[in-house]
Amino acid sequence: MARVLIVDDEPSIRFTLSEFLRRDGHEAGMAEDVESGLALLRQGGWDVVVTDIVMPRASGVELFRQARQFDPDVQVIVMTGEPTVETASEAVRAGANDYLVKPIGKNAIQRAVGNALRIKKLNDEKRRLEALNRQYQESLEKIVETRTKTLKAREGLLQSLFTAAPVGIGIMEDHRLTAANDELCRMVGYTVEELAGRSCDTLFAEPEECRRLAEAAAARFAEGGVLSLETRWRRKDGVVREVFLRCAPLQLEKGGQAVTITALDITDRKEAERQIEDGARKLHDMMDGSIRAISAALEMRDPYTAGHERRVADLAHAIGAEMGLTANTLEGIRIAGYLHDIGKIAVPSEILNKPGRLNTYELDIIKAHPQIGYDILTQISFVWPVAQATLQHHERLDGSGYPGGLRADQIIPEARILAVADVVEAMSSHRPYRPALGRECAIQEVRQKKETLYDPQAVEACIRVLEAEPAKYL
Ligand SMILES: [Fe+2]
Repeated sequence: MARVLIVDDEPSIRFTLSEFLRRDGHEAGMAEDVESGLALLRQGGWDVVVTDIVMPRASGVELFRQARQFDPDVQVIVMTGEPTVETASEAVRAGANDYLVKPIGKNAIQRAVGNALRIKKLNDEKRRLEALNRQYQESLEKIVETRTKTLKAREGLLQSLFTAAPVGIGIMEDHRLTAANDELCRMVGYTVEELAGRSCDTLFAEPEECRRLAEAAAARFAEGGVLSLETRWRRKDGVVREVFLRCAPLQLEKGGQAVTITALDITDRKEAERQIEDGARKLHDMMDGSIRAISAALEMRDPYTAGHERRVADLAHAIGAEMGLTANTLEGIRIAGYLHDIGKIAVPSEILNKPGRLNTYELDIIKAHPQIGYDILTQISFVWPVAQATLQHHERLDGSGYPGGLRADQIIPEARILAVADVVEAMSSHRPYRPALGRECAIQEVRQKKETLYDPQAVEACIRVLEAEPAKYL
């Protein structure tokens, strides 16, 4: 259904055509001249205007020429009683969509309006689609604009991160550097232009290392990992620097794979580490030398037990190792082995070297040596319980030992190991008051008295050690 305006100065034509159109289901309005027709058209909502051309005061051509200015979509059908080529062509030039010659029958007007309506609908649809398209275009442009801004901001951020990063960053393609940041240039002493396209071999102190590294990196990348390692680079001025290097795969937009490298100059740190290690080694050597010197001084006072401290130290260390103790604990046991009898320095050498049996008084003096040793050693800040192990090395599991009469877990593991090594070594060696009893006798002693006097685990470990290498420790 359409809204159709009929403009004609002839009332009979207006009414007849209106009637034809109403019968066809359309809504029809009427105007008797151009002026009133334009007034109605300005109200809007018309689909088709059917107008006579020749009317008093103004022509129908003038009507639709003006109407088109405020309603470009309205369809125009002109009617004339004087059909000439000039009239028809003028109407078409002015923008008429159809042309009817009077008298106009019912079919002719209905068909013409129907056609006009179809064209109008097509035009409306076209405009709707154009508007939609425009809207879509605009929103698309907005999205693109926003995304471009975000991307540019991110790109700028990444660029400044790349340039100003405090670590060297570069990209390698086919063993050549294709990008390098300021820090990487500074590290190797080349300009960014000199580095561009440069073979990576020239960066390494040993050029062939680059290929080895590339193969290792490819293997790591295949497992989904990255490669981190310490290596050495040669600067442009020939100076070799130590470098921590991290290589990660980078998928290129153009296709293929590159490698990003992150490099940190660790030369100063490594040098500091070496100095610390060197200092620690020297300190350890000094301490070891001092302990051996003290031990040697002790032996001079008690020549019958020469080598006892060293052998106890070695055997206790081996027992601890057999028991699976850490290297640090073993070091403490070894030192305690060397120093466990240091308290004998306070025992007169006549008693130490007395060939016969000792009386109670003399025994009491001898039995004071763990406490005296403890008092001496406690003044040294060992990181291991050397003084404690010295104090407890004559304690026994059943509480029969001295000086504290401690039992089982009251005795520290270092002292329990030391006790086994001390007894086995002492029984295997000569003493002023008796000849050596021998290794087998010593082993039998600790085996029989394990759990009552000696730590069973230490005893078992000691037997295993002595059976494995009988000549090494005694
Ligand atoms: Fe002792």
